[in-house]
Amino acid sequence: MPSKIELCNASDVEAGAVLKVEKADLTLAVFNLDGEFFVTDDHCTHGPGSLSEGFVEGDVIECNFHGGQFNIRTGVVVHRGVTVTTVARRHCRA
Ligand code: FES
Repeated sequence: MPSKIELCNASDVEAGAVLKVEKADLTLAVFNLDGEFFVTDDHCTHGPGSLSEGFVEGDVIECNFHGGQFNIRTGVVVHRGVTVTTVARRHCRA
């Protein structure tokens, strides 16, 4: 049986903004896209970033940790963000 929890008031999230909400052992990001509200897990799927501390640009949230971008409406990855490639490896003696 589905249950509902009250996350915040609509007026708590300005248009084009995101709010971190911690409720019922969940840490969520609540987005207001011109009066339409979307809720995602606050934790970035790429790493330790917090999406509510990222940057909203239109329908996209950019994680402030590595710059990964996700479509807020669909959850689809728009940009994977910065990755590091190993170009050389050296062995060190202890
Ligand atoms: S932790 Fe979010 S893009 Fe890497």
